[in-house]
Amino acid sequence: MAKYKIGLLPGDGTGPEVLDEGLKVMGAAAAKFSITFDTERYDFGGERYKRTGEILPDSAIGELARCDALYLGAIGHPDVAPGILEKGILLRIRFELDQYINLRPVKLYPHVETPLKGKGPDEIDFVVVRENSAGLYTGVGGVQRMGTPYEVAIQNMVYTRNEVDRCLRYAYEYTRKRNKRNTLTLSGKTNVLTYVYGLWERAFHEMGKAEFPDIKREYAHVDATTMWMVKNPEWFDVIVTGNMFGDIITDLGAMIQGGMGIAAGGNINPKGVSMFEPIGGSAPKYTGMNVINPLACIFAGQMLLDHLGETAAAAAIEQACIDFLASGLITGLSTSEIKASSMTTTGIGDWIANRVAQL
Ligand code: IPM
Ligand code: MN
Repeated sequence: MAKYKIGLLPGDGTGPEVLDEGLKVMGAAAAKFSITFDTERYDFGGERYKRTGEILPDSAIGELARCDALYLGAIGHPDVAPGILEKGILLRIRFELDQYINLRPVKLYPHVETPLKGKGPDEIDFVVVRENSAGLYTGVGGVQRMGTPYEVAIQNMVYTRNEVDRCLRYAYEYTRKRNKRNTLTLSGKTNVLTYVYGLWERAFHEMGKAEFPDIKREYAHVDATTMWMVKNPEWFDVIVTGNMFGDIITDLGAMIQGGMGIAAGGNINPKGVSMFEPIGGSAPKYTGMNVINPLACIFAGQMLLDHLGETAAAAAIEQACIDFLASGLITGLSTSEIKASSMTTTGIGDWIANRVAQL
């Protein structure tokens, strides 16, 4: 019997509610596929910070590093200034556990509405591999003469060859394993950010030529990437890009796959501990109302199981979600549509967990 230690980070706002539903569904899959979870719950987030002044104790990183995977609800509290919890919890875990890949599938499931006219599940099915540990997120830079008309603010986009190479290697290997169109697109900005994206472009072609001749290489500037994502999303199979561009284009990706109610991602350290999360925020105004859509978090659980190699359990969760979307029990994925339906956060979790058990 496979046994995994899962670190739970419910976080703020509606994070704990969606995580509970994700766990409910994972529990159903675990029962079916002889998996056991040993879970440990950590209360890092806005409430703890307000109570104790502590964001993430130093000992936490070491503890999280001993888990097989981490499962996160949402980070962000209305009473805490933006950036404190995001940097102090989410980004710190990503950096310190060296989760250098942010894997974000953009997949439109049947019966989910996309704002893109004339596009459906056949056209919207690609994956973004976002570099997740460097670039503009390193905090390298500074401010001088703050508050004066002569203020200088510098935020550097920092990449080493190694950081670029390891991200590209993951993206190539992922593209090969996915085996869909065997096409990897580098999204950059080689016409302006010549140093950083010059490095990415050279590394991209060198590695592709030498190690992945079976993978077709394409390049698109990031601005053009957003245009094609809307106009011809079917052109993409796997996109690889730097941290900041990846952050931006994956919100667009989330929208074309049906919104924040369904988009999930994984912060991956291929040789270490990875963390899975719904992409959306903590939606504090809906806390405790049982109206938030747990699907994104359920999909994050599916990615977690897949990452652990529990592919059958992951596939069962995906199928149960597909069946739920086809059931017509909800007319859309937004909070207002959940409110207008007969479904609730816990009701959706129950339905999908039961379905997993029946499959
Ligand atoms: C994301 C989020 C984070 C990021 C924030 C909350 C720090 O937007 O996961 O995409 O910028 O990476
Ligand atoms: Mn983001």
